[in-house]
Amino acid sequence: MAPHHRCRIPSYLATAAALLLAFLLPPLAASQWQNCGKNGNFTTNSPYQANIRALSSTLPKNASSSRTLFAFATVGTVPDIVYALALCRGDANASACGNCVSNGFKDAQQLCPYGKDAAVYYDLCYVAFSNQNILSATGGGNR
Ligand SMILES: *[C@@H]1O[C@H](CO)[C@@H](O)[C@H](O)[C@H]1NC(C)=O
Ligand SMILES: *[C@@H]1O[C@H](CO)[C@@H](O)[C@H](O)[C@H]1NC(C)=O
Ligand SMILES: *[C@@H]1O[C@H](CO)[C@@H](O)[C@H](O)[C@H]1NC(C)=O
Repeated sequence: MAPHHRCRIPSYLATAAALLLAFLLPPLAASQWQNCGKNGNFTTNSPYQANIRALSSTLPKNASSSRTLFAFATVGTVPDIVYALALCRGDANASACGNCVSNGFKDAQQLCPYGKDAAVYYDLCYVAFSNQNILSATGGGNR
């Protein structure tokens, strides 16, 4: 890999492009699958959990109202910083996109209980949060 060659392209664009490509692939039989990261757990009522909650209340709206149906946000500070991103399929309408992202936050927390790092994929959208910058060129997507 030649990471230096990627410097001209903002890493979030590279990630968004990769995600968009993923949506162009034939859908799997299952309409949902998840990826629970290995970055440890948070505890009930922790600042980390509060930060996920804050993101889950604003990111669905931000993604669905974005022209690209994509939203990225960071809440909190280290060690409770949470990075989150949401992306809807290009043909999703705003309400379906918002609902999908909103459910994504719920499902991710159920499928990866107390996981600091989780991602859920659906036919219609993709939702991920992490304590690591999931849009950084060096760490993006590596779990
Ligand atoms: C995190 O929580 C999950 C589910 O409760 C548990 O299976 C796992 O062992 C925990 N991991 C750590 C690092 O504590
Ligand atoms: C959502 O969008 C608003 C308005 O642009 C912005 O102030 C806010 O920080 C965003 N929040 C998230 C979680 O994306
Ligand atoms: C939005 O898309 C969903 C799912 O594809 C569909 O059920 C719904 O009727 C659509 N709503 C509008 C307002 O187009």
